[in-house]
Amino acid sequence: MKKNFKVKVITIFPDVFPGILKIGVIGKALKSKIWSLKMINPRDFSKGVHKSVDDTTAGGGPGMILKSDILGKAINNAYKNIKDRKKFPLIYLTPRGKQLTQNKISQLSKKDGMILLCGRYEGIDQRVSDYYKIEEYSIGDFILAGGEIAAQALIESTVRLLPGTLGHKNSSTEESFNNDLLEFPQYTRPKIWNNLEIPKVLTSGDHKKIALWRKDMAEKLTKKIRPDLWKKYKKNKTIKK
Ligand SMILES: C[S@@+](CC[C@H](N)C(=O)[O-])C[C@H]1O[C@@H](n2cnc3c(N)ncnc32)[C@H](O)[C@@H]1O
Repeated sequence: MKKNFKVKVITIFPDVFPGILKIGVIGKALKSKIWSLKMINPRDFSKGVHKSVDDTTAGGGPGMILKSDILGKAINNAYKNIKDRKKFPLIYLTPRGKQLTQNKISQLSKKDGMILLCGRYEGIDQRVSDYYKIEEYSIGDFILAGGEIAAQALIESTVRLLPGTLGHKNSSTEESFNNDLLEFPQYTRPKIWNNLEIPKVLTSGDHKKIALWRKDMAEKLTKKIRPDLWKKYKKNKTIKK
C-alpha cells in the first residue's frame, strides 16, 4: 500500500536536497511518489537586497542566530494548506534535542508527513521553538555546521519504513533496535574468506538452531556494546513474562 508522505524542509541551503536521498531505495520511493520533498528557503521571506536571515545574539557573544520573524513566515508557509497539524509534526534538528531513536522514527513514519527545520550558525531564536511548540531532536552528541545532514538522516530512516519502500517485508523488522536488541552478525558467500569460515550453524539448514543462534548473538552483542539497551531489554522481558 503506497502513500504520499509529504516532507517539507526549511533550509537556507535548499540545493543540498535531495542529495543522498535521490539514490537507492529512498530515491526510487521518491520517484514512485511514496514520498515527496519540498524545500522552503527562509531567504524567500526576507526583505532587502541582502536577503539576510540572521542577526547577532541578544546579550552578546559569538555567532549569528536565525531570526524569528523570518523563520515564522517560513513555518507558516510550510503549514499552508495543511488542515490537521497533528498529522504533520514540526521538528527542529538540534544537538540540544532529545536523542532521535528508531522508535521515534517508526512513529513519524505513521504520520502523513513532517516539516523539518534546519538550523545554521548558532541556531534559531528560542521564541520560534516556544511559539510553535517545536519538537527538538538530535542525531548525536556532536556538533554539525547545520541541520541539513541531520534532516537527511531523519528522512532516510523514516522513508525506509514507509509501506512499499523496501522490497522484502521483513527487511525492517529484523534490525537493530527492534525489541531493544542490536542485530546479530550477518555473513554471505564465499564460505571461507582469509581462513575465516561462516559459522557452521548458518549453513546447517536447521532454521530453529539458526534462530536460536541469532537471538543468542544479538543478546551477547547488546550486553557488551550497549549496556543501556541491554538494561531496557531485560526490563521489558521481565514485564512480558
Ligand atoms: C553549529 S550548530 C549550532 C549549535 C548550537 N550553538 C548549540 O551549541 O547547541 C548549527 C545547526 O546545526 C544543526 N545541528 C548541529 N549538530 C546537530 C546534531 N547533533 N543533531 C541535529 N542537528 C544538529 C542544528 O540545526 C543547529 O542549529
